[in-house]
Amino acid sequence: MDIITNPEMADAAPTPHQPPVIRREDYKPFPWLLPVTRLNFELGVETTRVTSTLSVERNPAGDASPTITLNGDGISALTIRIDGKQTSEWTMDGGNLLLPLPGASHEIEIVTEIDPSANSQLMGLYASNGMLCTQCEAEGFRRITFFPDRPDVLSTYTVRMTGSQDQFPVLLCNGNKSAEGVGENGTHWAEWHDPWPKPSYLFALVAGDLVVNRGSFTTMSGREVELAIYVRDGDLDRTGHAMASLIKSMKWDEETFGREYDLDVFNIVAVSDFNMGAMENKGLNVFNTKYVLADPDTATDGDFDGVEGVIAHEYFHNWSGNRITCRDWFQLSLKEGFTVLRDQLFSQDMQGEAVKRIEDVRILRSVQFPEDSGPLAHPIRPDSFREISNFYTSTVYNKGAEVIRMMRTMCGPEAFRKGTDLYFDRHDGEAATCEDFILAMEEGAGLDLTQFRLWYSQAGTPKVDIAMAHDGDTATLTVKQTVPPTADLADKLPMPIPLKIALFNRETGKHEGEHLIVLNAAEQTFEFGGFAQPPVLSVNRGFSAPISIERDVPDEDLVFLAAKDDDSFARYEAMQDLIVRHLTAASGGALDDSAREAARMAIAQAFGSILSDDALDDSMRGELVMLPGLTYLAEQQLIADPAAIHTEREGLKAWLGARFESELVLIHQRVSKLPFGLDSASRGARKIKTQVLVYLAAGNPELASKMAAAQYNAADNMTDRQGALMVLTGLGTAARTDKLIDFHRRYKGNELVVDKWFALQASSLHPHAIEHVKALAEHPDFTMRNPNRVRSLYMAFAANPQAFHAADGEGYKIIADLILALDPINPQTAARFVPSLGRWRRIEPARAAMMRAELERIAKSDSLSRDTFEQVTRSLG
Ligand code: PHE
Ligand code: ZN
Repeated sequence: MDIITNPEMADAAPTPHQPPVIRREDYKPFPWLLPVTRLNFELGVETTRVTSTLSVERNPAGDASPTITLNGDGISALTIRIDGKQTSEWTMDGGNLLLPLPGASHEIEIVTEIDPSANSQLMGLYASNGMLCTQCEAEGFRRITFFPDRPDVLSTYTVRMTGSQDQFPVLLCNGNKSAEGVGENGTHWAEWHDPWPKPSYLFALVAGDLVVNRGSFTTMSGREVELAIYVRDGDLDRTGHAMASLIKSMKWDEETFGREYDLDVFNIVAVSDFNMGAMENKGLNVFNTKYVLADPDTATDGDFDGVEGVIAHEYFHNWSGNRITCRDWFQLSLKEGFTVLRDQLFSQDMQGEAVKRIEDVRILRSVQFPEDSGPLAHPIRPDSFREISNFYTSTVYNKGAEVIRMMRTMCGPEAFRKGTDLYFDRHDGEAATCEDFILAMEEGAGLDLTQFRLWYSQAGTPKVDIAMAHDGDTATLTVKQTVPPTADLADKLPMPIPLKIALFNRETGKHEGEHLIVLNAAEQTFEFGGFAQPPVLSVNRGFSAPISIERDVPDEDLVFLAAKDDDSFARYEAMQDLIVRHLTAASGGALDDSAREAARMAIAQAFGSILSDDALDDSMRGELVMLPGLTYLAEQQLIADPAAIHTEREGLKAWLGARFESELVLIHQRVSKLPFGLDSASRGARKIKTQVLVYLAAGNPELASKMAAAQYNAADNMTDRQGALMVLTGLGTAARTDKLIDFHRRYKGNELVVDKWFALQASSLHPHAIEHVKALAEHPDFTMRNPNRVRSLYMAFAANPQAFHAADGEGYKIIADLILALDPINPQTAARFVPSLGRWRRIEPARAAMMRAELERIAKSDSLSRDTFEQVTRSLG
């Protein structure tokens, strides 16, 4: 009987095979308020004793109920006291504890004991390299103590921790430290108080032997905040970038959103065993080491950006997530979509808008679009789930950000700020809903979002079909939209779609200004006068809407835009379109040799103009020449043949590599002369350098192998070194083995770099990648207990199109075996591998049958976790 379980489900008696479905429409306020929570931890890696004291009062907004239900998961109560008196009048309902509470207010004291060393799920309190840390979002707090573990129950926490001074010299918790002291038998203690009422998912505790990088920040109202980044001994000199990113984030949020920090300290702790990227616990963010540690020798430019973006993201949650939290988990996008948008806007301001926008769209299209067109499709505000961990998805995060970005596009940045000001003002201190956010936007930003609300309830990527006619001096656009059916809903309504467009004059290569048109019906026409000749249409500029566009446009228009469009995203898009159209046709068997040659010539024309355009910076050049990924290409076809797409894609790469060999070599020589730096010119140089090698590796493997080995040897930074090794790993030359051995030896013991070593081999183009993955699973450095390591081998492999989709089904079997082996250890991470097999309906029949068979094999296991059960069932259903 979970509090928000649909009562109708009660007779459908959930078995271990059928965990209950939780529905958004069943939300009810919790019948009790918990103004004050006190926790006492007696810490030990094998035994930690937790005493929690809850003062509870009836919630006037809740049902009158003579009992209180406290969530628990895998814990049992040693003693329970109500109002100071020990009681045995309690019952269990599954993992939950039911206590009779006759009065209007009570004090409950519960003692539990847990074994952090046995916690391999990494939810609740767990041990990582001898340190203790917690992860409570979404429902981990109930693994520590019995509690109403739901985001709408806000309480102020006072926490006392006692533990061995040797083992845990550092004791951290949310809020500010209020007292500390030395105890008996080599122990010490600390007491922390967090003045801000918060839900249990934002609770955090860390105890360990850590070193610290300290900084400070003065807020806009002049308050001094102590900043601290805690890491393991030896990692300190890799924390500078994280500290700089934190300070920039704090400043930016004041300037851009008017948000000021609200505690005396802001602590970050890096842990190497972590299921996700990082966690925004109030005043005590816990991070995967991957998003804290960076220096030029061990981290790529992409890693540096990742640190900056995730530090910003978690910091921004202090307002969008913590000060205003979610009423229930169906509202997850309220905090995640909005915070992703905030971190994207921040990174755009730090690194440049053009490239950042392209990178964000690439992630959306390669991860979220497939999710939205597959069996796991769900709206950004889902209506039901069995296991909330499965809904920390690209849809909730990235599409959620796009939806709020569209609001911003429609009203402009100033009005948008008025809307967010009103939202923060109105709901500060509350657990809010997506609807609350929408209402604040309507009122504050002056938008009418009546129809726009459909973006919150309809899943599926809208398809927009655009045709242009020209008559006299008028260009007429006819635009049609359809929202495809998804498993949850077949018939969809048209949604408001803001499209930024420009019409280029073919002769002058210029346009008269950008237009914003907002579609709101299934079919519409828009007229534009003043065009003696048919203009060239540039559409969805800046990717103003998360849709896919179909339009019948001649290659020459795309070549024109790829060379001339002044909107960087649209320019990139023209190049992508040109290539996508060709590869889709070619891999579908629709092209004879001469048609293939003609299409390649058009691509070469655009490609050449990009290589030789002196006005382009190398960073943008690197984006423009990047081939669309296989997942995105497969997404364009109803039923895809991964092998055919891969062959055509490699064929095009080799053809371009050979055709532009001398130009590419010259670029490599030019940029290799630049000294290392973190400025955008040097970063651009490194990006294009490896792109050059990628093309040459396909066109002239011998030459590429030599150049890559030289780049590897000369590298004074990880970007160049990893780029070179990536290219070598895909080739069969002697340098491959050499450099792989060298890399491992050089970085032995550095977990994050060893992760790269695994990932490079698992994602390589080498024909024997499958054998390599099997061997790496037996490597002494491999372990199923560390999520980063598991992902570095198997996520990389599942995203390796040619190896994963091996014709004999071996790739599918490897991932299914992994899911079965990982599920009992870490279900949350295991379930994240299911979507790769879940794509079976969109793959050609022979492979689809094998993928489905592997899913069925997993489904047969009678001990599946809720996480994996839900994902496998949905994928087969
Ligand atoms: N809330 C975290 C974030 O996006 C992600 C997270 C979810 C981390 C669940 C751990 C567990 O910032
Ligand atoms: Zn987040």
